[in-house]
Amino acid sequence: MKLNHSLNKIKTIKLASIPTPLDEAKRLADKIGLSKLFIKRDDLTGLAGGGNKARKLEYDFAEIINGGYDVVITAGGIQSNHARMTAAAARKLGLDIKLVLGGPDFEIAKGNLLLDVMFNAEIRYLVDDDANVSLENEMQKWSDELLQKGRKPFVIPIGGSTGLGALGYVKAMEELSAQLENDNVQIIVGVGSCGTLAGTILGSKIFMPNARVIGISVSRTLKQLKKELLN
Ligand SMILES: Cc1ncc(COP(=O)(O)O)c(C=O)c1O
Repeated sequence: MKLNHSLNKIKTIKLASIPTPLDEAKRLADKIGLSKLFIKRDDLTGLAGGGNKARKLEYDFAEIINGGYDVVITAGGIQSNHARMTAAAARKLGLDIKLVLGGPDFEIAKGNLLLDVMFNAEIRYLVDDDANVSLENEMQKWSDELLQKGRKPFVIPIGGSTGLGALGYVKAMEELSAQLENDNVQIIVGVGSCGTLAGTILGSKIFMPNARVIGISVSRTLKQLKKELLN
């Protein structure tokens, strides 16, 4: 397939443990009246605990390494999976990591925050504030400060949802199509910063044309999501 050939030419850096297994959940399917139900185990992608961001980061970090950037900045809520996975990826590749984290509760380092600290991430906290605008402004400010000091910073947006990163989920659909008997399926994904959904929709159109994709918002309203998805 021509498009797939072009897709394979886009550079990535190996970060994720993929392909992830596709587990059948028979008892849950019976319980909720489905003939079949599978769970794509993207909780097993690695990077200190796994999650959906690893696939996206393979694309973003290729750009970072090939562009000679020496420090990565990203942002999220205080327990952000994306921040933790980006920190793990940066440290794995020998880069400095700066995190802007927002939220009310960071007196005690636990969960993802503890891992961020263990990865030696430098962290700026925005107290009682997880509004994306403030986090993004702070990332930009930090990036400018680092530039002034002669560093070469790369800012990964909240959730890692860049156009490039979404390709991770285009490729995931190729992976999934090889694990399923046919593409008459409904694919359900969580939706936050929208990269996963955008990549899943595009990937299903290419590799699983009969599939229907359903996104379930983890935080934002439908109006916000539509705007974000089209970006
Ligand atoms: C497990 C899981 N699935 C899906 C999402 C949504 O991903 P995205 O930010 O690409 O929309 C998130 C994060 O919000 C998540 O943690």
